[in-house]
Amino acid sequence: MKPCYGLTGGIGSGKSTVARLFETLGARIVDTDEISHRLTAANGLAIPAIRETFGDRYIADDGALDRPRMRAQVFSNPVAKQQLQAILHPLILEQAKSAAVAPSDAPYTLVVVPLLFESGRYRDWLSGVIVVDCPEAQQIARTVQRSGLDEATVRAIMAQQMDRADRLQMADEIITNTGSLEQLQRQVSELHERLSAR
Ligand SMILES: Nc1ncnc2c1ncn2[C@@H]1O[C@H](COP(=O)(O)OP(=O)(O)O)[C@@H](O)[C@H]1O
Ligand SMILES: [Mg+2]
Repeated sequence: MKPCYGLTGGIGSGKSTVARLFETLGARIVDTDEISHRLTAANGLAIPAIRETFGDRYIADDGALDRPRMRAQVFSNPVAKQQLQAILHPLILEQAKSAAVAPSDAPYTLVVVPLLFESGRYRDWLSGVIVVDCPEAQQIARTVQRSGLDEATVRAIMAQQMDRADRLQMADEIITNTGSLEQLQRQVSELHERLSAR
């Protein structure tokens, strides 16, 4: 089997941007956010369990998860959040694993997981973890600009993620995304060469 590496980092650190750069160079990307989205889209595998646990009103007319309603619910209710995660996380893990081990021409696979270290279910089967890093102020500025969320909301999300220092300590490789996209591209290319040669 070709090696699989994790790619993680705090919100707005640049994970998706970095993943796209690796993909352009020929890495296979398995994106757990995309998997989660598919599981909760119309006819998604998680929809029956969500309907059973939360009721019909959390499923929109098209059969997909009513995201705004669920977001409001899990934001104010830790039990609901835990129930939703208990449905989604095992399915996401299973699908990420099977996508990551499926045959591929790519030299290696990157599994993008925002809460990789926090979840505790990825590190044991990955060959290493790449962390995308930048200062918190930069994370906030990028996320506010991209999403339109206000600063307080972004800080609240960051408070639920691991500390920057702890994340860096657990990294096998660090991509420093404090500069230009050209600087980012250079780091990705250098790391891609090393990962491809292993
Ligand atoms: N080095 C960079 N220079 C300029 N903009 C960047 C850079 N890195 C990321 N961005 C922008 O910041 C935002 C957040 O990046 P993104 O890759 O979506 O982060 P994440 O997936 O970690 O939340 C995006 O709008 C992205 O285009
Ligand atoms: Mg992203």
